[in-house]
Amino acid sequence: MEGGGSCGGSDGSGVASNYGGGGRERPNILVTGTPGTGKTTTCSLVADASHLHHIDIGKLVKAKHLYDGWDEEFECLIINEELVCDELEDMMEVGGNIVDYHGCDFFPENWFDRVVVLQTNITILHDRLTSRGYMGPKLTNNIDCEIFQVLHEEARSSYAEEVVLALPSNHIEDLSSNVRMLTEWVDNWRSAGS
Ligand SMILES: Nc1ncnc2c1ncn2[C@@H]1O[C@H](COP(=O)(O)OP(=O)(O)OP(=O)(O)O)[C@@H](O)[C@H]1O
Ligand SMILES: [Mg+2]
Repeated sequence: MEGGGSCGGSDGSGVASNYGGGGRERPNILVTGTPGTGKTTTCSLVADASHLHHIDIGKLVKAKHLYDGWDEEFECLIINEELVCDELEDMMEVGGNIVDYHGCDFFPENWFDRVVVLQTNITILHDRLTSRGYMGPKLTNNIDCEIFQVLHEEARSSYAEEVVLALPSNHIEDLSSNVRMLTEWVDNWRSAGS
């Protein structure tokens, strides 16, 4: 899917600002990263603290049958990106959402005022994924995804530089500081022109 124009968020100084575009009254945040980096944990806490609507794309896809089939090798649903975007469009226009997904290049660019990429040390991520029972190609693929910073590259090639923020997600202290920082950012956000 094509991006939908440029994202707000730059104050022209090259420093990330929290004045967004899109005419929304509240910002939309995308939290992405390799599976196991802590997207859902982080999003739940930020959603509670900031009164944002948490949209876990994996759960939405299952609940609304927004998929084309099952990938046998990687043991996951093959999502239909167009159906997902159609489903989200109205909510994203209103704003006030925190979207949680291990992919980011198929959403329209102008949906998001902030794109957070969570990053986890490989040994910590390996432990989290094996304790979930991941093994074989599913484990290797996810570990490679983190080693090669696939989601960070995807975010950087899909969104304006000042919108993308990489954050460590190794320990509980990281979780607390990420949630605090994002909550403050939401509190201070003002739509462009308001
Ligand atoms: N910063 C952190 N410090 C310690 N543990 C964490 C941290 N973030 C997440 N975890 C733990 O790591 C595990 C994976 O977290 P979570 O389910 O939020 O990841 P996810 O990115 O949503 O994964 P998926 O893409 O598969 O949905 C959970 O057990 C969670 O408690
Ligand atoms: Mg999750």
